[in-house]
Amino acid sequence: MSIDDRDVALVDAIPFLNNTVGKFGHGRFVGLEHITTGQKVLEVREAPAAAIIFDALRHLETASLDVASIVLKQGLEQAWSQEAVSGAWGSTIHQMCERAIASALEGVSGSVSYIVDHTRFLPRSIRARTPRYIRDRHLWEYQAATHIASSKAFRPRLVAKRETPVENNAPQAPANLSQQCTDGLVTNGWWFSKGERAEACFGIEIDAAWKNFADHWNRLLLDEYMRDGGTYRYRRYSAFEYDATDGIFRLLPHAPYEQSKSVNHLNGGFERYFEPLENSFIDHPVLEKILTGFCRILCEAARHDRWNIKIHPYRIVARDGVNGKPAPEGLHQDGVDFIACYMIGRVNVTGGMSMITDASKEFLGEVEMNSPNDFVICNDRETFHDVSSIVAENLKMPYAYRDVLVIAFEKL
Ligand SMILES: [Fe+2]
Repeated sequence: MSIDDRDVALVDAIPFLNNTVGKFGHGRFVGLEHITTGQKVLEVREAPAAAIIFDALRHLETASLDVASIVLKQGLEQAWSQEAVSGAWGSTIHQMCERAIASALEGVSGSVSYIVDHTRFLPRSIRARTPRYIRDRHLWEYQAATHIASSKAFRPRLVAKRETPVENNAPQAPANLSQQCTDGLVTNGWWFSKGERAEACFGIEIDAAWKNFADHWNRLLLDEYMRDGGTYRYRRYSAFEYDATDGIFRLLPHAPYEQSKSVNHLNGGFERYFEPLENSFIDHPVLEKILTGFCRILCEAARHDRWNIKIHPYRIVARDGVNGKPAPEGLHQDGVDFIACYMIGRVNVTGGMSMITDASKEFLGEVEMNSPNDFVICNDRETFHDVSSIVAENLKMPYAYRDVLVIAFEKL
């Protein structure tokens, strides 16, 4: 756990919180307890650290778990307490409850900040790592209404079985590319693939469906948070969770996007509110194939099955003599486990070279993604990356842009 952004071992956190929270009198429990003779005795107990830690945990549980899970967990906690109070500490039931409670808390994480004074410790902010809460109720109602209106049958996002039979489309190449990409990530920390190989591996064709998918880049919106004052980036943003055990991508409630200042010195350290992906983008079979392909690779490369997946379609434009910057923060990491950049298209631009270094910023390689479905994927813990600026090739043409799909994968 951490306190005031400092990592602290639990054993050290307890005396610290006992002092800082306990000095206001919080965490003091007074009551009569029965003793074996049937009489009662006044007990005064103090556990300030436990009081505030469990309060924070309750808030994060509420923010992260669905109602049914919370109700079931509370029942388990009561059964756990009953066993302990009755002297059956360590019994089979006690252990069963303990393991189920621990299982329910997997993935429950985040931060809670408090105002502490003599009257109360009051949460000032609650930020769950995998939140279910809505930040903007009015926006959510608007989006729900427009989604229902635009869908003949509104359904929650439940797509993309892991075992999408991409092998049926190309029996040899998929296994080869998947395995080579997996091996490349494990051995070198990054991998580059040409588009035709990705098409065979992911079961993608440059057809009408592909063009319909790429057309979504024409409806991205200007990124108004660029602290370099640039107006060259257009984007949207949504996030999913993926669990290989059921092979389902679950769309998360729309939330602001935030990176720490240490990860993104240019635009980090504050919440950025981007418009979500369009419903037709979320439901698009090409997106499903791309995500399924990457998840297959990463589950094997990382030997991990549960992922938070952040989807960033970007258009970088070069116009009016101003170059576009695909990576305005320069050589960087994104603070996730793996980062993929998937080429959608380039129109009338030069540049946009992707450069990868190792963790000590020693050069590993440089590639140019210049065809649809080219991709670069990096282990973001072990490498840094940068992309050079794009320059309009023919200034007489009205447009010059580079469209990519950036996908960030973080272990859950
Ligand atoms: Fe990046």
